[in-house]
Formats: sequence, structure tokens, C-alpha cells
Amino acid sequence: MEIIVAETAGFCFGVDRAVRRLNEMVQEKKVTHSPIYSYGPVIHNPHVVQGFEKQGVKIVHNLEDTVTLPKGHILIRSHGVSEETVTTLEKKGFQVVDSTCPYVKKIHRIVTEASRIGHTIVIIGDKNHPEVVGIAGWTTGEVIVINEPEAVDQHFWDQEKNYTVVAQTTYHTEKYKVILKKLQKKSIRVIINETICQATRLRQKEALELSEKVTKMIVIGGKNSSNTRKLYEICKRQCKDTYYVETIEDLELNVFKDNDIIGITAGASTPKNIIEEVISNVRNAKF
Ligand code: F3S
Repeated sequence: MEIIVAETAGFCFGVDRAVRRLNEMVQEKKVTHSPIYSYGPVIHNPHVVQGFEKQGVKIVHNLEDTVTLPKGHILIRSHGVSEETVTTLEKKGFQVVDSTCPYVKKIHRIVTEASRIGHTIVIIGDKNHPEVVGIAGWTTGEVIVINEPEAVDQHFWDQEKNYTVVAQTTYHTEKYKVILKKLQKKSIRVIINETICQATRLRQKEALELSEKVTKMIVIGGKNSSNTRKLYEICKRQCKDTYYVETIEDLELNVFKDNDIIGITAGASTPKNIIEEVISNVRNAKF
């Protein structure tokens, strides 16, 4: 049996930065005793989130949740939030610790500027994903969210308007290309900004290449992590025996055979210790 672990498996720069910052806040709390909040789970991984909760971090899901809370420090995770959310929290007296990933912050700047000059903003992504909700919240005019190539043809594109296009940083690169091609055929004035994160592109490319050459593939990540789900979809297309697991508990080790070549990758919010646990259990499995 051979195990090949993707070099890009695990925390990306933005997630690592937010998790580190929350860890620092937990340490600071021991001195300041100021309550600590996270605006949404810091990452899509229940094990990491529960660990923080045990250390006193409370998760708030929306502005209403903050109404009765004592004031304290509140972390904005890597997905970012709308401008209104930041200003409302500050007005309410919370100390906002902004850990929005710099790559997402750049998209906020693009859409703020473009909508200021009257452009319609096109966001390629999932309208319910917190990052997309946050991006939309930095615009002042019209916003269109496109998640599937077919949606391009269902929309009326006005040739009198200017469109500025951005994409969710973790959007599926192949689908993105299809959507762009369709948009470019619409004879509209469109400015395209390449905002899919390089970390996502590399992770997806490596997952694709790895899943082509292995007999079985393991994708590790939170079940509600959209970037992990995309990795799973990419791998499953190349390698039918692809397993999506959150931790080693979800993996049935008896599916592996001695002559298997096993590929392992993980989403951007999967901690190193969970990846290592899966690797060592697969390596030590008895066939
Ligand atoms: Fe940032 Fe890219 Fe991660 S946008 S949060 S480094 S996937």
C-alpha cells in the first residue's frame, strides 16, 4: 500500500491567520477577562470550534444575537462580513478584531469602488455562503449572484450597463471558466477580476491530479465546508472510491487493500492533527 498526501492539504493562509488570532485572544482574555466572541464559527470544523468554546469563546450568528451580550472582543473570521455588520458592532461597543482574509478584503475594495461608480456587481458564488453575503454587503448598487452556468442565460443582461465581476475565493475553477465564457458571449461591458484564491486553485489542481493516479482517495474536512465539498466532487469524478470524512471516526478502514495507492487531501479548515490521525490510522490498518 502506498499513501500520497497532497502538499496543499489543510489550513490555508487566511484560516491559519484567523485561528491564530483567536488563540491570541483566548490568551489575552486570561489577563483582561473581557468576553470573547466569534462572528460565526472561526472555521468549518466542529472539533476546532468546540475546543474554542471550551475555552470560553462564544459564537454569535447574527447581529440580533449580540443584543443582550456583555460587550467584549469579537473576531471577524476569514470569510469577512458586510460593512454594516462591522459598523453596527462597533456602535454597540464591541471591539472588532478583523481577521478577514486579505484576499477577501481585496474583493470588498473592488466591489465598493465599482459600485461607487455605478457598476452592477456580479458575484460568482453561492448566495448563501457567508463570504458572498459579506461581499454583497460592501456594494451600494445592484448585485447579481451567479452560482451555476445556466443562471447566466436566465438573466437579462443590459447592454447599457457596466458589469464588474468577482468570484467567491473558493469557487470551483472549472465552473468559473464556463460562466465567464457565457458572460463574454453576452455583448456586455464587463470587467473581470480574478479573485479565486491561488491556494484554492492549487489545492483543487493537486486534488485533480492526485485522484487521477490513485486507486482510492480520502478527502478530509468539515461536512459544512464548501471548499472541502468541492474537493470531494473533483476527486470523485476521477476516482470513484473517494471517501469524504470529517475525522478518522468516519472512515471504514476495511475498504482499503494492501495493493491500494491511497491519495489524501484536506480542505482549508482541516487541522493538521486530524490529517495526521487519518494518515497514521490508514498506514497502520491491518488487511
Ligand atoms: Fe484566504 Fe484563500 Fe484561505 S482567500 S481564507 S487564503 S482560501
